Amino acid sequence: VASDQAKVYNSASWMNDLPIGVFDSGIGGLTVLKELIKRFPRESFIYLGDTARVPYGTRDKETIKRFSIELVDFLLKQKVKALVVACNTMSSVALSEIKNRSTVPVIDVISPTVKLAAKNARDKIGIIGTRATINSRAYEKAFQELGVKIEARECPLFVPLIEEGVIDSKATEIIAKTYLDGLKVDYLVLGCTHYPLLSKVIQKVIGKKVRLIDSAHPTADALRNLLSSSDLSADSNIKPSYKFYVTDDTKKTEEVARLFFDNKLPAKLQKVTV
Ligand code: DGL
Repeated sequence: VASDQAKVYNSASWMNDLPIGVFDSGIGGLTVLKELIKRFPRESFIYLGDTARVPYGTRDKETIKRFSIELVDFLLKQKVKALVVACNTMSSVALSEIKNRSTVPVIDVISPTVKLAAKNARDKIGIIGTRATINSRAYEKAFQELGVKIEARECPLFVPLIEEGVIDSKATEIIAKTYLDGLKVDYLVLGCTHYPLLSKVIQKVIGKKVRLIDSAHPTADALRNLLSSSDLSADSNIKPSYKFYVTDDTKKTEEVARLFFDNKLPAKLQKVTV
């Protein structure tokens, strides 16, 4: 996972009240956004989900990079003060490109999650993610640097199932059993921001003793550090605003997005072109 420590950003006080851009290939990033809204009640957020082109995880690197840059450009045009890549696939394949393109600081989901998981690791950590994430070996490399052993599995059918709202179903359980068969770990990293929606099924299949780790909490911690170190926290008493953008027809998506927010979506979904 690349670092952008050397990059210097302009930050002026008027920037503090700008929203934070959060993006994903679809609606999976809403698992991260939900946590961010809870943890940062004064911050405004713009969410962008590329529902017209989800899933990214089965595509090649060049395509994922190209799509990622288009999402970044769209959010920068909306004037944001920071970006959260709420997608493991983009974080693992396109992070350097995203950071190079961005004129505001960028947080990814992998580095914070690895740090948290490594702290808890006893024996071996399991990682599940999209094909692109697992093939990139981003998690493997990051854990290796910390001396932690991992076993990684790709679960390409999980994202389409979730985007379709097929969550607590027998079919999902059978697919989860196939993917997780024989995996012996203490901790399992949900290396895709869609997967927390399947945590009930995953937990049932892998057993109660295995602890599931998702990216939402560690990513929120990383955002807190960024906002305080760059002095970018919202400092006015203005009510925060939320905008939810998607790139395809919003009807089915909105129905599924409600599941992420226990049926109370903070804003209506609006269709945009990136
Ligand atoms: N939420 C994305 C992730 O974290 C899903 C990727 C996809 O579109 O396949 O990897």
